[in-house]
Amino acid sequence: MTLRISVLALSAALAACQPGGGPADTSGGSTTQASVTAETASPRVRELVAQMTLAEKLGQLHQAAGGRSRNLNSRLTPDELDRVRRGEIGSYLHVAGAAPLGELQQVAVEESRLGIPLLFAMDVVHGYRTIFPVPIAMASTWDPEDLERASRIAAEEASAAGLHWTFAPMIDIARDPRWGRIVEGAGSDPYLGARIAVAQIEGFQSDNLAAGDTLMATAKHFGAYGAPIGGRDYGTADISERNLHEIYLPPFHAASEAGSASMMTAFNDIAGVPSTSNEHLIDGVLRGEWGFDGLIVSDWNAIAELINHGVADTRADAGELALRAGVDMDMTSNVFAQDLATAIEADPGLMADLDRAVMHVLTAKERLGLFDNPMAYHDPEREAAAMLTDAARAEARRIAARSVVLLENRGSALPLGPDAGRIAVIGALAEDASTQLGSWRARGTPETVTGLLQGLRQGAPAGVEITYEAGASPTSDDLSGIAAAIAAAEAADQVILVVGEDYDLSGEARSRSSLYMPDSQRALARAVLDTGRPVTVVLVSGRPLAIPDIAERADAVLASWMLGVEAGPALADVIFGRVSPAGRLPVSFPRTTGQAPFTYSENPGGRPADPDLSRDSNRFHDLPITPLYAFGHGLSYSEFEYGDIRLDADSVAPGDTIRLTIPVTNTGDRAADEVVQLYMRDPVASVARPRLELRGFARLALGAGETRSVSFILDPAQFAVFQAPGDWRIEAGSVDLHVGASSSDLRQSVTVTVSEAGRSRSPAASIATRIEVE
Ligand code: BGC
Repeated sequence: MTLRISVLALSAALAACQPGGGPADTSGGSTTQASVTAETASPRVRELVAQMTLAEKLGQLHQAAGGRSRNLNSRLTPDELDRVRRGEIGSYLHVAGAAPLGELQQVAVEESRLGIPLLFAMDVVHGYRTIFPVPIAMASTWDPEDLERASRIAAEEASAAGLHWTFAPMIDIARDPRWGRIVEGAGSDPYLGARIAVAQIEGFQSDNLAAGDTLMATAKHFGAYGAPIGGRDYGTADISERNLHEIYLPPFHAASEAGSASMMTAFNDIAGVPSTSNEHLIDGVLRGEWGFDGLIVSDWNAIAELINHGVADTRADAGELALRAGVDMDMTSNVFAQDLATAIEADPGLMADLDRAVMHVLTAKERLGLFDNPMAYHDPEREAAAMLTDAARAEARRIAARSVVLLENRGSALPLGPDAGRIAVIGALAEDASTQLGSWRARGTPETVTGLLQGLRQGAPAGVEITYEAGASPTSDDLSGIAAAIAAAEAADQVILVVGEDYDLSGEARSRSSLYMPDSQRALARAVLDTGRPVTVVLVSGRPLAIPDIAERADAVLASWMLGVEAGPALADVIFGRVSPAGRLPVSFPRTTGQAPFTYSENPGGRPADPDLSRDSNRFHDLPITPLYAFGHGLSYSEFEYGDIRLDADSVAPGDTIRLTIPVTNTGDRAADEVVQLYMRDPVASVARPRLELRGFARLALGAGETRSVSFILDPAQFAVFQAPGDWRIEAGSVDLHVGASSSDLRQSVTVTVSEAGRSRSPAASIATRIEVE
């Protein structure tokens, strides 16, 4: 798109973007604040605040741990009940159970002076009792409706168990697979991430937070938690203001627009400003520009950790910084409860901030219906009936099968049919039910999981025989089982080799310096591949792994991530062909550790990566310029043809929309899904733009031989360039649009013209493309 902006606007843009690669200045003054205030709070909330003592106000801002994440309710002692009676607690996390939480709630509403109900919270991330695939797996469905369904079921179960609030969805964009928490999110792309964020929020909250069977969602971790240096958890995000707004914040903007009732601030800092005390980001951007009026909670102990960051000297200072920035609730650090009074005494002006925070907490409780019907979540009979129903398990199986990504399929090695003969399943992970629950398992237990081996045994066609050898476990250096694994492989017609990481190698504080499989898994894979038997590799992991040998030598490779309670049946559905795989990668797989972070969406630079090594270009000398598997990649048992693109106009003006339609045909002889992906590229703009950017996708179910047309309805605001928070530049000129099966398999292209320049308030990637399928 050609540059057509005034000199004034350009210099403002340049000032905002700090060319030269300097870090963003994300500190600084705030703009107008749009949050719950004395004017906008309900009469009930205002009256309560007027009656509250300072101690009661501070109590409302305190979230206490009722236990550790795997030891729920353990701290709910008689002393704790007295604290509730005295109004010293606003919320508990890591608690569960309709009856125990009901008793606690009764004490709060009947025995505390003002009868304010408690908020009960937990990390219900990918299921409560019915555990669904880990988030990065569900993101691989590229189907927001699947994520909405899973979140809805999680909310029905968790709310029946006395919970009001989940710390999910985790919507941090993650481009460095060394970061262990990549498992908790939707991968590397802001557009895909925004759609998946919204779907989960809608699933958790539905359209009525007070319905009693919904959960208040928490979009987390606000800021740029997914961008720690080197992928080391909790580390500084030293990113440009442009990257912050164009890549990391769009899912949060979309979450705010979708009505996420709460957000959590990140542990880490951006260019020196911890997100927990970032007044510019919280008060200025989130509340001021975006108009977010929900509850903002800190992360665990993060307010006290402002001292470790080196921006606060004392706990009172830390509390003051967080409160001023706009944090409403203190998760477990006790700073608000114990030390804020000192800060308020020194500066009575802080009372206004305190009242604002209290109003946010009380308004959240009101939105959940807790003042009118505090016992709506405490019916033990409902709780007993809600858990792990057949319908929920069926959904878990359906979604798990849709999450699997077929990375390789040489000579149509998969699916395996009734003539597969004797299959040796090899790899200790095949039997590791616990791993299928992944990170954050709420009330999920390994006994409820149908593991991979079990599922393959149950799901194999008649006449197929299954043998099993553990070979080697990812958590041990013991290679003594490999000999038996080789013998089993040699005695079989086929091998299903299950290798990768166990659940404890990804998740919080689980960053890894290596993206290769653990040594034992590599040794096992090598030995089995050396037998020369046909091998299907089932890769288990919470992150993309560098698997160059497997990619080259296996007959088929499936990325199965960690698939939840129905992992085994879902995998069997794919391997034995009852479901054609249609998962697509939400983040690319690197060839080596050193190739990461790699995204399809980088700027081309002045010397774009060139396969010809004799030209000096933006690449590693010792690697191809492509990743092992690109963003959006995933194979099918069928094949698809993309017809010609139709546009309803050649040009579009800001404020209008343009419709791009493309027919897609399943040319194979079986029903299968295809994920049609739309990418943009702005070839000439005022600042360098990414090589490609996702702007739409649709997962289509197509019968054999069937053609369906997908229309993508785009607004030029989706092509806009960041200038300042709430101010995005729509530049006049041309934009290339590509439709294809992945970021590395573009099938059809077209160019549209944006007829004039304009402005938009929303981050480009946060805006949803309207999709119509005929
Ligand atoms: C994590 C959050 C989580 C919180 C409560 C923290 O360590 O960063 O994502 O919600 O604990 O369990």
